[in-house]
Amino acid sequence: MPERDANIKAVLRYYDRTESRLGYLYLLHGTKHFGWYEAGDPGWRFSPAMRRMEHQLGRRLGLDAGSRVLDAGCGMGEVARTLATDFTLDVTGIDILDFNLDEARRRSEKSGLADRTRFVECDYHDLSQFADGQFDGAYTMETFVHAADPERVLAEFHRVLRPGGRLVMFEYSRTPEELLDPAARAAFDAVCELGAMPTWHRLNHGDLEGLLESASFKVEAVEDVTARMLPMLRAFALLGRLPYATARRLGKTAKAVNAMSGVEMWKHQDAWRYNIYTAAKKA
Ligand SMILES: C[S@@+](CC[C@H](N)C(=O)[O-])C[C@H]1O[C@@H](n2cnc3c(N)ncnc32)[C@H](O)[C@@H]1O
Repeated sequence: MPERDANIKAVLRYYDRTESRLGYLYLLHGTKHFGWYEAGDPGWRFSPAMRRMEHQLGRRLGLDAGSRVLDAGCGMGEVARTLATDFTLDVTGIDILDFNLDEARRRSEKSGLADRTRFVECDYHDLSQFADGQFDGAYTMETFVHAADPERVLAEFHRVLRPGGRLVMFEYSRTPEELLDPAARAAFDAVCELGAMPTWHRLNHGDLEGLLESASFKVEAVEDVTARMLPMLRAFALLGRLPYATARRLGKTAKAVNAMSGVEMWKHQDAWRYNIYTAAKKA
């Protein structure tokens, strides 16, 4: 429990920093996930790429119109609104950032989606405010990496899904530490530590599949789609170069975590993968 409290504080600190607030708002209009690029799609056009990524999610959920879905780590709710609009789903978004939830509600109200999207302050480690089997589907869009206790989060997803309910996760995995050179290892450690991502630090390629099976999910597909999001990471690496170099020179790397992550993750592409996990709750 103290470990979970410390984790929540670290996540709040990470997203409350000026760099995070301004970067996500001005570069990505408040959305916080990578885009999907086919050959020839321009890397700098972030919004259409993020909508394409959200469509990848909607297709993998494969749920009927009106199905009830949990967005675990919804941020400002852009993913939820795409699913409500383009896939006619009924989405409940949860997050621990009150300032993101306020904005999510405001945007849904403004776009006439308040009846199909709702946003609740809640930690995904404890979904006790939701009933057993309440949802037809659940998803994480780059959020599970922040978990302090991934087994517990999966157990909660399992509980709130109906039998056969769908779980789709857009998440990173890592290359085992012993296979990384010292520079890649140091960079990866710093990104996970400063970005408050203990689960990314812990889960080697192949581990999440095992955790899902242990939590009584049937894993239907695991897709390494790193190549699809690299154009956006490349753009971030270019944008981050100067702020990161300056922060390092001043000994203030902790103030430029996003810039650091863009540069170092681009440089050490052998240290990680970006995956889509599609699973269903065993009956
Ligand atoms: C990279 S952002 C993604 C946000 C959103 N899915 C999107 O794509 O715009 C990760 C989100 O997970 C949320 N998060 C982290 N830990 C969480 C927890 N324990 N419970 C609920 N949300 C959490 C963060 O607050 C943040 O909004």
